[in-house]
Amino acid sequence: MSDIDALEKELLAQIGAAESQSELEQVRVDALGKKGRVSALMKTLGGMSAEERKVQGPLLNGLKDRVNEAVHTRKAALEEEELNRRLVTERIDVTLPVLAQQTGRIHPISQTIDELCAIFADLGFSVAEGPDIETDEMNFSALNIPPEHPARQMHDTFYLEAKEDGSRDVLRTHTSPVQIRTMLTEEPPHRVIAPGRVYRCDSDQTHTPMFHQVEGLVIDRETHMGHLKWVLEEFCKAFFELDSISMRFRPSHFPFTEPSMEVDIRCRRDGGQIVLGEGDDWLEILGCGMVHPKVLQYVGLDPDVFQGFAFGVGIDRMAMLKYGIPDLRAFFAADLRWLKHYGFPSLDIPSLAGGLSR
Ligand code: DAH
Repeated sequence: MSDIDALEKELLAQIGAAESQSELEQVRVDALGKKGRVSALMKTLGGMSAEERKVQGPLLNGLKDRVNEAVHTRKAALEEEELNRRLVTERIDVTLPVLAQQTGRIHPISQTIDELCAIFADLGFSVAEGPDIETDEMNFSALNIPPEHPARQMHDTFYLEAKEDGSRDVLRTHTSPVQIRTMLTEEPPHRVIAPGRVYRCDSDQTHTPMFHQVEGLVIDRETHMGHLKWVLEEFCKAFFELDSISMRFRPSHFPFTEPSMEVDIRCRRDGGQIVLGEGDDWLEILGCGMVHPKVLQYVGLDPDVFQGFAFGVGIDRMAMLKYGIPDLRAFFAADLRWLKHYGFPSLDIPSLAGGLSR
C-alpha cells in the first residue's frame, strides 16, 4: 500500500471515530488545515518534476477530495445525532394530565349560571346581555316605572353623578332592562334569558349590594300564560334535578307585567335544611308575568299583535337552595377554603346530556 493510501485509510478511520463536532474539527485541521498532513503533501507538488507531478497531483487531489467529503458526511451525521439527543433530553410533554387536586374550582354562581344557560338553551332560548351601568330610562321608565313610582324606592338604587342633561345613570337594580334592549335591537319573536349582576344599596345577612339575577323574555304572536307556566315548571324540574315539582302562582304586582305573579315551590323545612319537592311549606323563588302593554308600546310593538311573558329569578338564592349553601355573604368573601368546599371541578361543564351537577 502506498503512503497516500495508508494516510487516507488512517484519516478516514479518524474521521469515522470522531465522537463530537469539536473532535472532528481537530481531525480536519490536522489533515486539511494550513499545517495539516494533506496540505503538507500538497506543498511537495511544487518541488516535483513535471512528470512526477502529473502522477502525484491527481492522487493527492483525490485524497484531499475524499477526506473533505468524509469530513462533511461525518459532520452532518454528528449534527443529526446531536439534534436527536437534544430532542429526547429537552422534551417537554405538554400533554401531561393535570392533577385533579391542583385545578382551580368553579364558583357556585358561575356553575349555576352555566346550568341555567344549558337548561334554557334546550328550551330554545338564547342569551342576551346589557350593561351594568344603565340609564335611568332603561332601568325604570321604559319598564313602566315613572319617576314618582313607589317601586323606585324599593329598588335602593345606586345613582351615578348627574350628566350634563341632568339625568343620572344607575347601577342596574335588576336584569329587566335587558328585556327593553333586546326588543329595541331585534325583531320579534324573542326568546332570551339574560343572566348577570345587579346592584342595590342594601347589606345584611340576606342581602349583598351586588347579587345576580336571570331575566327571561318570550314575545310572539300567540304566547300565553300556559306557556309561561310550562317553561317555569320545566326549568325548575331540570334545575333542581327532580322528576316532579309542585309550584304555586300567587298574584303579585310588578309595573312591567300585567298580570304579575310570584312563584313558590313546595318544600319541607327540616331543621335548618330545606327539602324541595315535598312537604306543606312554600318557598318563593321568582317573579313573573305577562309583559305589560305599555312596555310593548315603548319598544314599538303593537300589543294587539304581540304579547309574551317575562320572569326574573335570583340566581344566588337558587344556588343556595340547590347546593345547601347557608350564607349569602360567603359567596362574595373570596375565601379560598370556602371555594374549595363549595366550588366545582373546572373541567365538568354542565350540560343536559352529561349532567348538570355531579
Ligand atoms: N325585576 C324584578 C325585580 O328585580 C323581578 C321580575 C319580576 C322580573 C317579574 C320580571 C318579572 O321579568 O316579570 O324585582
